[in-house]
Formats: sequence, C-alpha cells, structure tokens
Amino acid sequence: MLTAKGRLAGVIGWPVGHSRSPQLHGHWLARHGIDGAYVPLAVAPDRLEAALRGLPALGFRGCNVTVPHKEAAMALVDELDPLARRIAAVNTIVVREDGSLFGTNTDGFGFLANLQAGAPAWSAGQGPAVVIGAGGASRAIIVALTDAGAPEIRLANRTRARAEKLAAELGGPITVIDWADRAAALDGAALLVNTTTEGMQGHAALDLPLDALPRAALVNDIVYVPLETPLLAAARARGHQVVDGIGMLLHQARPGFEAWFGVAPAVDAALRAAVLGPG
Ligand code: ATR
Repeated sequence: MLTAKGRLAGVIGWPVGHSRSPQLHGHWLARHGIDGAYVPLAVAPDRLEAALRGLPALGFRGCNVTVPHKEAAMALVDELDPLARRIAAVNTIVVREDGSLFGTNTDGFGFLANLQAGAPAWSAGQGPAVVIGAGGASRAIIVALTDAGAPEIRLANRTRARAEKLAAELGGPITVIDWADRAAALDGAALLVNTTTEGMQGHAALDLPLDALPRAALVNDIVYVPLETPLLAAARARGHQVVDGIGMLLHQARPGFEAWFGVAPAVDAALRAAVLGPG
C-alpha cells in the first residue's frame, strides 16, 4: 500500500540485488498496514553523494547503506553518531525534519539483541568472549561487547596484523590471540562468535576444535547461509547453547524501521520465514 503521502525508505548498495532488507522491511510494512515502501536502490560509488543528498528532496525518511558504501557514507552525513564513528561504518541514515542526514550504525545493536533474544540467560559481563575474525562485522561486535561490559575479548584473526590494528583503534579489554592459538583461547570463555566467512555456503568450515570451550559457553555464528553452520552443528553436538546468525540481520533493522515508519517492529518466526524464503 503506497499513496502519494506514503513514507519512503530503501537500501543503497552496489550491487544491491543480494540485499534481504527489502523483504525484511516489506514484511513489517505489510504487517502493520503502513502507507509506505522500502526499495532497493542501486547506486554506484561515484553517485553516492548525489544519491544521499537527493533523499530529502525525494521525500525519503532515510535509508540503509550497504556494501560498498558503509565507510564512504560516514563523510557524507551531516551528523555522525559517535557509535558509527567507533564502528567506522554507517548502515542506517535518518532524514531529519530540516532535511539533514543523521548517520548511525545498528549492527552492534542487532548482534546483542539477537543474543539476548536467543539466550536470555547470557550476559556480556559474565565472562570472556572469543571473537574469530577482524573484518567489518567483527568491529561492530567488539564495540557492542565492550559497551555491554565484556570483561575480556579474545580476538583471533588469520591475519594477525589486522587484529592488532583493530585492538589498537578500539582500545578496551581486547587481547589479540595468535591464529595458531585460537583453539586454546577457548579455555574459560563464556561466548564464542564467528565473524569470518568460514562456514558460509561455498566456503570451508571454520577450522576450530572446540575441546577447550566450557560446556556453559554460548556459541554464535554471524553466518546465516546456511542457518546451521558446521560450527553451530559441532557446538550443538557438544551440548552448547547456540544462536544462529539471521537474528543479527533482523534485529539490526529495527531502529531504522522505527525511525522511518514510526512503529517498533517485532522479530519473530514469520519475519524469519519472510526473509529466509521457502526452504
Ligand atoms: P566482514 O566485513 O563481513 O567482516 P571482511 O572484512 O571481508 O568481511 O572480513 C572477513 C573476515 O573473515 C576476516 O577476518 C578474514 O580474515 P583475514 O583478515 O585474515 O582475511 C576472515 N576470513 C576469510 N577467509 C578466511 C579463512 N579461509 N580462514 C580464516 N579466516 C578467514
């Protein structure tokens, strides 16, 4: 349902066809009977500034920003949320009443909300977290865990220098672990998170023996294709509580939807089905 007065938002990417955000927001718009639309917007890197500047003129309430624009968008918004600056990426833009652009990042929120929904008894403060991978997703997750009170974050990345750089930039309770020592670093951990692409369809499984991980530790993979990654299957077989990765995508969308469309949406099984599609 969309009239001339309808609220507009969308996702800007290049390419943008892979984004599941249109299904996600489309499901919420339909569920709440909102006069609005959420559209995929294919914008080449050299047109990003023009596209963002055009949002208020087109009546857009805001947008999501995805690959490859998340870093470039930081310099193009009128006000940057300090959280987005620390994460070094913008994924959500809100057009204010005066037409100015506010850029924020909801990935860390989505990560934590997914864990809280899937494992209500877990809290960041209860013990060390082991984070595998030091890319963009890892950065948002480390910021979120730090702010939520994690006492220690053990960061292991195949390319150690990248982990060192992240730790130096972010500060906080990060211990860089050598890739060769990643399995031993699971000793005493309360949380294990895979932020690498390993385990994704078409990739090898993450090479990480879980023997040293305490049974009480929670295991999360941010990969969600497939939902049950080899890591999660192995953890489940050892008796760990596991949380899959699709919820991070679903929960990170909540703040944007609420800002643009004025309704706080729910993450539930129907939304998961809408985003994951048949099968
Ligand atoms: P994103 O922004 O989604 O986090 P990214 O920035 O490309 O993606 O980061 C990918 C992560 O997966 C990195 O931590 C990468 O490790 P390197 O920094 O060493 O490249 C990790 N990764 C990719 N392939 C891997 C593999 N075969 N084994 C271990 N880690 C891998």
